[in-house]
Amino acid sequence: MSQGFSARACFPALPSTGLLCLTLLVLATGPVIGWRPWPQNKRNVSDYTFGDSKKYEGSSEFVKLRYHMGPVLTANITVHTIWYGKWERNQKKIIREFINSISAANSRHPSVSGWWRTVHLYADQTGSNISKTVRLGKKRTTGSTPTDFCTSACGFHYFTFPSLVGYTLPYAWVGNSAKFCPGQCAYPFAVPEFIPGRKPFKSPNGDVGVDGMISVIGHEMAELATNPLANAWYAGTDPTFPVEIADLCEGIYGTGGGGSYTGQVLGAHDGASYNMNGIRRRFLVQWVWNHVVNYCTGPNALDQ
Ligand SMILES: *[C@@H]1O[C@H](CO)[C@@H](O)[C@H](O)[C@H]1NC(C)=O
Ligand SMILES: *[C@@H]1O[C@H](CO)[C@@H](O)[C@H](O)[C@H]1NC(C)=O
Ligand SMILES: *[C@@H]1O[C@H](CO)[C@@H](O)[C@H](O)[C@H]1NC(C)=O
Repeated sequence: MSQGFSARACFPALPSTGLLCLTLLVLATGPVIGWRPWPQNKRNVSDYTFGDSKKYEGSSEFVKLRYHMGPVLTANITVHTIWYGKWERNQKKIIREFINSISAANSRHPSVSGWWRTVHLYADQTGSNISKTVRLGKKRTTGSTPTDFCTSACGFHYFTFPSLVGYTLPYAWVGNSAKFCPGQCAYPFAVPEFIPGRKPFKSPNGDVGVDGMISVIGHEMAELATNPLANAWYAGTDPTFPVEIADLCEGIYGTGGGGSYTGQVLGAHDGASYNMNGIRRRFLVQWVWNHVVNYCTGPNALDQ
């Protein structure tokens, strides 16, 4: 669902000139809601003091992820981007390359396409799996700036209503993590105050905000695909506040992850941390819930 915590406190009075947000419009048969770091699945303070060796990776006993019979994104997925505010060319390039990496056939293992394979494991009631094909569509422009979006979370997803715009289209909104609560939205390249003594990781593409956004984008994309209209795959009983497949694995990037430990990730020669390869670049993206094995999985898992 939404990757946001009580963000109001975080971004009290954003000047409208400072908006840096990205909306991903997703075209496919179906659309959904989404958000990020540790709002609803907030673990209590003692959880953050677990040692680094604890094997967590989500806990199957407590998770009742269910399919609620709604559509998922089984047709080829086209992502249209809408950029708000001022973005550098290179920042847009990092984000586009991540989206293009989702269905790239031959990235080096562990890969972004390997990460999407967990999402592809979800199907609808007809047995059709989520599409493996995710393409970047044309850039869209819009006259209005969704100021209310930008103040509520690192990212979220939802869908448009036919009564308002004439069609149903799933979309996700993601803010620039450097501007919006970096401790949550750019984690672990920035560290929130409630995890004392942690050194931030070095980001793989030299841009803490955008490298942090990549995981939020991955989170929202995975949830858009599996719960586009808020009536497909989620845990919990409240469809207006669903706990979705990426919510269940927030903060987990590798084997052993849980609490304040990211899990085992890879180190580049320059000291940057990453857990998957895309086209030409490396990324650090959170894992997602695998309903077949009942825990969080990702392409860099050591036991696969
Ligand atoms: C926090 O976690 C500890 C240990 O798991 C537990 O005993 C305690 O009841 C929890 N506190 C709250 C407020 O959930
Ligand atoms: C969906 O994507 C696949 C792989 O890129 C392609 O072969 C196929 O023609 C596409 N289908 C449609 C309906 O566009
Ligand atoms: C398609 O979805 C089903 C049901 O979740 C799953 O068991 C199967 O492994 C998936 N197929 C692929 C190729 O991932």
